[in-house]
Amino acid sequence: MFDDRLSKGRRRGRAALTALVIAGVGAALIAGSAFFPTLVEAKKKELRTEVPPGELDDYYGFFSGGHSGEVRVLGLPSMRLFKRIPVFNLDAGSGWGVTNESKAMMGGLVTGDTHHAHASYKDGTYDGKYLWINDKANNRLARIRLDYMETDTIISIPHAQGVHGIFPQRYPQTDWVILNSEFRTPLHNDGKGDIRDAASYNGVHTVVDAHDMKIVCQVMVPCNLDLAATDYQGKYSFATSYNSEGGATISEMLAKDRDWLVVFDWDAIKDGLKKKDYKVVDGIKMLDGKPGSRYAIYVPVPKNPHGVNVSPDGKYAVCSGKVSPTATVVAIDKLADAFAGKIEPKDTIVAEPEIGLGPLHTTFDGRGNAYTSLFIDSQIVKWNIQKAIDLYKNPKKDDTAVVDRLDISYQVGHTMASMAETKEADGHFLVSLNKISKDRFLNVGPLKPENDQLVDISGDKMRLLMDEPSYIEPHDCIIVRRDIVEPHVKDRADMDEHPLAVHKNAIERDGNKVTVHLTANAPVYGMQEVEVNEGDEVTFIVTNHDEIPDLAHGFCISDYGINFVVGPFQTRSVTFVANKPGLHWIYCTNFCHALHLEMRLRLMVKAKA
Ligand code: CUA
Ligand code: CA
Repeated sequence: MFDDRLSKGRRRGRAALTALVIAGVGAALIAGSAFFPTLVEAKKKELRTEVPPGELDDYYGFFSGGHSGEVRVLGLPSMRLFKRIPVFNLDAGSGWGVTNESKAMMGGLVTGDTHHAHASYKDGTYDGKYLWINDKANNRLARIRLDYMETDTIISIPHAQGVHGIFPQRYPQTDWVILNSEFRTPLHNDGKGDIRDAASYNGVHTVVDAHDMKIVCQVMVPCNLDLAATDYQGKYSFATSYNSEGGATISEMLAKDRDWLVVFDWDAIKDGLKKKDYKVVDGIKMLDGKPGSRYAIYVPVPKNPHGVNVSPDGKYAVCSGKVSPTATVVAIDKLADAFAGKIEPKDTIVAEPEIGLGPLHTTFDGRGNAYTSLFIDSQIVKWNIQKAIDLYKNPKKDDTAVVDRLDISYQVGHTMASMAETKEADGHFLVSLNKISKDRFLNVGPLKPENDQLVDISGDKMRLLMDEPSYIEPHDCIIVRRDIVEPHVKDRADMDEHPLAVHKNAIERDGNKVTVHLTANAPVYGMQEVEVNEGDEVTFIVTNHDEIPDLAHGFCISDYGINFVVGPFQTRSVTFVANKPGLHWIYCTNFCHALHLEMRLRLMVKAKA
């Protein structure tokens, strides 16, 4: 009976694999052309908002999880949550933070604060390979491989606090990822010297090699650096700075009417590295990007700017001052002249339309329109970039670049349109990531969910489609076409990618160190019992040999605080000291078989004499 079920499962697995291959070929055929048949079909009337049972979404949404420390994968337009990818957080469901593999990446920390998820690029659009996410809390950068949708590397960023804005290189492909430090600190932050002297603090713009995840260099600046963007030519990166004052208190940070959009010149940085125009600080090449240096220019933009986003045509960087009702449009083709000193940095500004109160982030529809989140007004405002530029040149009374406004619920932070951070921005959907939901959902106490609202931006008027509650607290997201990601996503791991993959069950003893090599095949582990002595250092290495898609096994040791899952063909390990004598059943936590409950083995820890 069970064998029969297994073989049916295997057949299903093969059928699914075949379907995936066909879907992949289909996606490859239509990539770059018309997009999904389902969506095109639906567009004849209006954008579909429902995904009926059994059908698939048109987009992946990769959302940061804020201080939950994770990344979330949703489908759009359904807004269904598919997966929570643990990154900087302990995850009880998957055992992230419990296994040796994840612990080695996490470096003893089990909290984080993720803000900005950005995927890898080729030629200005996503290639579906990787996703990067920052940890503002502990100043780290993580990379997630999208074929497994699991974290594969975490690195620490030195000389930086409040690692906030990140962005991958968009052209010709992602070789660099840049990161900003929002908090200024002493360069040698060792508590020696005058820590109170805020004038001596600095920020850093960090360049990370996207391939080996090593730090290429840092560019030191006197100001803080908040959000980040890269251009579409592989020439520049951008950082807003709301603390050009170099203040340490909120009133000091609000002293000036204008702060900065700092632009970094990548050719100059590469040349500086070649000519060794840096000092080595704690092993890191540190270039000096102070005003007047060749590495950075400082464009004066309205008070305390936050977001910076580059239009999909690659022409403009748009930022907004949180306490100015405007957006600032910087022409990227003027930057070379500003770096050469032919024009002033301020002369790169080509528009500054008045759009509303508390402007934060801007996204795009690929048809020349920008959509800016207004935190104070609780609105998404749609405005036309070219019209804003025309009106900046020839102001007309009573004329405006604003095209439409949509009230949202409530207090929007980031906003993102489908494919908007690529040259393939398609202007279908927009997500308004609202910080406050108040009365929009059943009351669950003082800590309420956030409200991520889905908006149809395919027409002249924006149309609110859906409220989606989300657990605290997504900051930002990207919306990626399904055909870019799905063909690369695997149902099973490459078993031998893990150097310790178990092919043969065995117990090895070396003094008081015991290593157990264990396979898992529904509904049995490769051994029925393991005997160790109290005080032994025990390592279990578990490989799941089930090839059926979605057939994961758990590994939980009763009363030992050890609990994790292993996906098809994956290997996970755990090391602990057997400090509790007695019988401890090890059991499978992940329902895998009709005999799932019987999938267990005895760990017998013999008490010291
Ligand atoms: Cu294996 Cu349940
Ligand atoms: Ca300021």
